Amino acid sequence: MSQSPYMVQLDRITKVYQIESQKVEALRSVSLNVRKGAMVAITGRSGSGKSTMLHVTGTLDTPTTGKVILGGVDVSTYSDAVSSRFRNRKIGFVFQMNNLLPEFSAVENVMMPGLIAGGGKSAVPLRAKDLLKAVGLGQRLNHRQAELSGGEQQRVAIARALLMEPAILLADEPTGNLDLKSSEVVEELLLDLCRKNGVTMLLVTHDNELAQRLPSQVVMAEGNIAEFGGAW
Ligand SMILES: Nc1ncnc2c1ncn2[C@@H]1O[C@H](COP(=O)(O)OP(=O)(O)O)[C@@H](O)[C@H]1O
Ligand SMILES: [Mg+2]
Repeated sequence: MSQSPYMVQLDRITKVYQIESQKVEALRSVSLNVRKGAMVAITGRSGSGKSTMLHVTGTLDTPTTGKVILGGVDVSTYSDAVSSRFRNRKIGFVFQMNNLLPEFSAVENVMMPGLIAGGGKSAVPLRAKDLLKAVGLGQRLNHRQAELSGGEQQRVAIARALLMEPAILLADEPTGNLDLKSSEVVEELLLDLCRKNGVTMLLVTHDNELAQRLPSQVVMAEGNIAEFGGAW
């Protein structure tokens, strides 16, 4: 990654979905510069383009027009192979649906990005255990998804997202399925771990109180950024 002070730059991003004869403009020229280590909350009504913006930022989806620049590099210059390698190593994802692999234990799920990266015998198992301890699941290493509560599953997902020491963490309503108490625990862990590790975080949330606890905020409306709040 280069000397750019920005970790995430979106330059006039549009995203048009075409379903049969109908066009949906999910993003209409979104521009955003996020400094390294910044923590940004993204709020806005359902359908305003929050998830689309996160997916495009994470190279899970491509923009119709505009540029995504991560760590100073225009990701459209990456081949598919380089792009997936970059995603695996540099970006952590936490979604509302945690997508844990049900047949694997907690620690195996956390190790998965390291196994995909080819970190065979290395430090991967040890780091996975340490991360599970850091999210308070040191006593749940060998539990499978069905043997964990919703909040515990999301904590496993956070540990998995941080395994590769990503530069960027993208979280889309990570506590959307949790009760209030578990939400608070998960939110606290997420903020704390990102802060400690200097991870640049974009967090989509419908919870305005949580959004205000992050240093920077963006409000989306109708496929665009309607408002900036906090420090930029
Ligand atoms: N894969 C898709 N195909 C077609 N339309 C989509 C797709 N994903 C999102 N949309 C549409 O794009 C708009 C923005 O969606 P989304 O980014 O999911 O909003 P939010 O996360 O803010 O609720 C919505 O109108 C939605 O219906
Ligand atoms: Mg969404």
